[in-house]
Amino acid sequence: MNLLIMGPPGAGKGTQAEVLVKELNITHISTGDMFRAAIKEGTEMGKKAKEYMDKGALVPDEVVIGMVKDRLSQPDCKEGFLLDGFPRTVEQAAALDATLQDMGIKLDGVINIEVPLEKLMARLTGRRVCKGCGASYHVIFNPPKEEGKCNTCGGELYQRSDDNEESVGTRLNAYLEKTKPLIDYYEAKGILKNINGDQEISKVLADILAAVK
Ligand code: AP5
Ligand code: MG
Repeated sequence: MNLLIMGPPGAGKGTQAEVLVKELNITHISTGDMFRAAIKEGTEMGKKAKEYMDKGALVPDEVVIGMVKDRLSQPDCKEGFLLDGFPRTVEQAAALDATLQDMGIKLDGVINIEVPLEKLMARLTGRRVCKGCGASYHVIFNPPKEEGKCNTCGGELYQRSDDNEESVGTRLNAYLEKTKPLIDYYEAKGILKNINGDQEISKVLADILAAVK
């Protein structure tokens, strides 16, 4: 199954993706996670991406598109994948269509997580992420069993450098201007599944599974 998960920053894409890929036995492809890994490794692409990410701006299309094309050609994507955070512009969506067509595969569904915008700031400024496995927690809404430590791998939790009020504001604007139009793009293709993301994490998951299975 080839899926895409979209929604504003803080909608719960990463939180849901982590469990969904295990349930559906598919590969998680998060462009945000890939950029954060490149930053950690100190690659040239990572250095370039960091300039945009810290401000909350989108990394240029040509950088992202090339990276995703490479990733999709890897063997672990053959059994299916879940794209998280890509595409984010109409140009990226068109490039994805062309790439999938070349590969002879198609998207089976687009999960669109809907959350009232006024709830996103609290979700993002209270988020904590595992340094080891990338799992997302929240100091109030989804706290780890032991403070500062990942439930799954025991890794240390940290706060993302773009989870401050200023960057979140810019990310929200980028979403509204560049990414939200993709809702109509996928609606027109008949593969959009709108999901209420403003409910318990487990309930959101159940709704997604019901929509895609
Ligand atoms: P990326 O890492 O993709 O960030 P984002 O889109 O801003 O989304 P987030 O990861 O912040 O939110 P999420 O929906 O995954 O929420 P989460 O599940 O963690 O991208 C970062 C940057 O990289 C971009 O700004 C850009 O610069 C660059 N980039 C990446 N892809 C790009 C692309 N394609 N093109 C150009 N640039 C790109 O949840 C958030 C919090 O809420 C957590 O604390 C969680 O515990 C909590 N939470 C989750 N669900 C619930 C719930 N149901 N109820 C209460 N709390 C909840
Ligand atoms: Mg995420």
